[in-house]
Amino acid sequence: MTESITITDNRTGESVEVPIENGGVDASAWKTLLPGLWFLDPAFGTTASTESAITYLDGGAGELEYRGYPIEQLAEHSTHLEVAHLLLNGDLPTTAELDSWVDDITHHTFLHENFRRRIYDAFHYDAHPMGLLTSGVAGLSTFYPSSKEIDDPDVRMQQIVRLVAKMPTLAAAAYRFSKGLPFVFPRNDLDYTSNFLAMMFSIAEDDWVPDPALKRAMEILFILHADHEQNCSTTAARVVGSAHADPYVSVAAACAALYGPRHGGANEAVLRMLGEIGSYDNVDAYMERVKSGEERLMGFGHRVYKNYDPRARIIKDAAHDVFAVTGKNPLLDIALKLEEVALADPYFVDRKLYPNVDFYSGLIYQSMGFPTEMFTVLFAIPRTVGWLAHWQEMLEQDSRIARPRQVYTGERGRQYVPIDER
Ligand code: CMC
Repeated sequence: MTESITITDNRTGESVEVPIENGGVDASAWKTLLPGLWFLDPAFGTTASTESAITYLDGGAGELEYRGYPIEQLAEHSTHLEVAHLLLNGDLPTTAELDSWVDDITHHTFLHENFRRRIYDAFHYDAHPMGLLTSGVAGLSTFYPSSKEIDDPDVRMQQIVRLVAKMPTLAAAAYRFSKGLPFVFPRNDLDYTSNFLAMMFSIAEDDWVPDPALKRAMEILFILHADHEQNCSTTAARVVGSAHADPYVSVAAACAALYGPRHGGANEAVLRMLGEIGSYDNVDAYMERVKSGEERLMGFGHRVYKNYDPRARIIKDAAHDVFAVTGKNPLLDIALKLEEVALADPYFVDRKLYPNVDFYSGLIYQSMGFPTEMFTVLFAIPRTVGWLAHWQEMLEQDSRIARPRQVYTGERGRQYVPIDER
């Protein structure tokens, strides 16, 4: 039997029956009964803005799948570029497809010299790297005017390759700029993740390679951050993309959204919070301030997960592999105690607040030598794949421009008063 709901317009007595499909109802079916009537849904808490076949997320069960593959399997066996192919094309690649995809990405990593010299050099010496990255991605739009041809699938794929390939270069260049270090050119002999780490950390060593355990941890973190369905930044990319803006400015909009401390900026906020707490003994007092509403426990809570974020569990395990190489991060004990206290406290239990992806990732990044300001940048590099997968899916769906309704609560019909009479 098909489940359904019936809505009755009490003004006219007319009803419409709407089937419940895939856990929801199609709002457009209501339009026939209720033309012109809006649905108030601030922050889109109950609005599905699209159908999508990219990422499955069950927040209650704590399950996450990319194109049907559990995140745990991908984190264990895959590489970021293989996952990128999966997200963008729908299937895991064959060997030939993967070779060709990796080759394409490897040969599009360089930045135009004018870009590096004129755009990045225009920033203040201590500019936040997310500011550089966001502006830099938008700036790329002006270097590739053909990217405006968004209806051409080949042109679209060319920009996807460029963006996936150049994000690590842009990110590392932002870091080197902020440190006053010379830029390091991309290296074609290295894989995607090793190349990024080399552009970040090598100094006058042509044959620099990362520690294999740290490289694998970075790969896992890239995989875990590659997509998360209709989150704030992906929605930003889709909304801007729905106006048929080019992919560079659409991704720049997503970067801007990710920059916020409630979203991708949370990993940076977690580290600042742990530093502020300072010691194991101060955890209880801090938790009291959280419960009284003075603070938020950063890295906890999620709009969709009402269970342990599966990515947080994988990151927590990966942290031990990293600390085996770098030595234990001294802030780990504070983080573990915060988690232990929170998971036993009715405030957090009743609100279903669990660690999210950002709670442990910052500890790894810090131990690997990344400064706090780079944490959100490290989120943006892999998430570019997700943003582009959704941007492409949206264009293939023949979507309309995003344009929500509002409920107007202001005044009406006021008469203009000259300034000297107010
Ligand atoms: N610490 C303390 N209380 C919290 C927290 C928190 N981190 N998160 C939610 N709450 C409380 C909130 O005060 C509210 O309580 P009450 O019902 O008494 O008013 C209740 O839980 C529901 O919170 P909400 O603000 O309505 O939840 P939301 O779905 O709008 O917000 C969130 C989700 C992620 C913005 C929020 O949990 C938060 O600010 N967390 C900290 C920042 C963070 O870690 N963000 C990373 C999210 S995961 C990665 C990503 O997607 O970018």
